[in-house]
Amino acid sequence: MGFLKRLACYAYILCSIFKVYVLAAAYLLKQYTSKIRKPTGIEGSNRGKVAIVTGGGSGIGYHISKQLAKHGVQVIIGLIAASPKLSESEEAIRKIKHEMPEAKVEFLHLDLSSLESIRNFVDAFLQKKCPLHILINNAGLMFPPYTKTVDGFELQLQVNYLGHVLLTSLLWEKLKTTGQLHSYSRVINVASSVHYVSDMPADLDNLNQEQQNFSAHAAYMHSKLAVVMATYYLQRQLNRDGHYITVNVADPGVVSSGLFKYVSGFVKCFLVRPAAALGILWTMEDGAYTSVHLALSSEVEGQGGRYFFNCTNAKSSHLSQNVYLQEELWHKTCDVLHLDVNWPSTCT
Ligand SMILES: NC(=O)c1ccc[n+]([C@@H]2O[C@H](COP(=O)([O-])OP(=O)(O)OC[C@H]3O[C@@H](n4cnc5c(N)ncnc54)[C@H](OP(=O)(O)O)[C@@H]3O)[C@@H](O)[C@H]2O)c1
Repeated sequence: MGFLKRLACYAYILCSIFKVYVLAAAYLLKQYTSKIRKPTGIEGSNRGKVAIVTGGGSGIGYHISKQLAKHGVQVIIGLIAASPKLSESEEAIRKIKHEMPEAKVEFLHLDLSSLESIRNFVDAFLQKKCPLHILINNAGLMFPPYTKTVDGFELQLQVNYLGHVLLTSLLWEKLKTTGQLHSYSRVINVASSVHYVSDMPADLDNLNQEQQNFSAHAAYMHSKLAVVMATYYLQRQLNRDGHYITVNVADPGVVSSGLFKYVSGFVKCFLVRPAAALGILWTMEDGAYTSVHLALSSEVEGQGGRYFFNCTNAKSSHLSQNVYLQEELWHKTCDVLHLDVNWPSTCT
């Protein structure tokens, strides 16, 4: 790599880091000055409803699963069976069942970094022959070092975005047959405030970043912008086709969780730990509220294509709303996943 190219690459990496931390500081201030809202409009029992929560064995996902189970929902957790945290997750699920003996919670193996594992997960789920009312695409990774998945994609791109698109497409038919006029099936895509600082379109042709000029911070924010854009695209297709499914985005806020495992020791010491100690970082339970609100609240029945933060409708970035870029991203996404671009409409 030439000197100028290397310089440009360092500038890109530093700029991405700077943007992420300025945004995080602004968000922390916002959280400090606002009251945490809990889900509202959840009336009656949700017994009989079935939900899938990816990454539901730990972190925010675990609390989403627990809160859904409390409301009577049967929860199927997508969990990496080979994860070092497996026994921790199994123990966590046992705890839910101990606290709520009535709770219906189980897990199926799902590794979003393998497209084959996603297909196997869906096969195993479909064998259960149960409906699917709620799909929460929650699992995620932040800032891991450059890694290519077995399918040849950058790890964050696949786990945070591409894997969830494939999962949603394979479950689409089930969601379609479960949804009804006054009881829509709901897809909730967990994104992040970092999407506000992503300038992905400049990178759209290079969606799958290569190692040479890799920025883990840029890859994370781009993957989350992609999640927001794909949500809006899908909901537009739904509005056109008239299926009883809604797709929304949940932004959990800045939450003290395992997500920070790849951030530097310096940031952990001087930002994450002090902010957690001062209560500015939300707890994982707080972080689950927005997803649970979108999954169960009657206030959002039939409403899709929205971005929610703190259980309230918020405005996502200007870029995320660019319809032309959403379509371009969608075509590129379906192309790399070998999916028919019209799958939301043609899926039978
Ligand atoms: N924490 C925050 O401040 C924050 C802010 C904005 C958005 N978010 C988003 O919220 C979501 C949940 O994050 P979190 O804070 O709860 O982080 P976390 O504690 O690290 O949990 C992430 C979850 O994703 C799972 N996961 C990771 N790689 C996976 C893979 N290849 N296949 C299947 N599951 C996988 C993890 O499973 P294991 O435990 O088995 O590894 C874990 O259950 C993520 O999408 C994240 O981007 C978080």
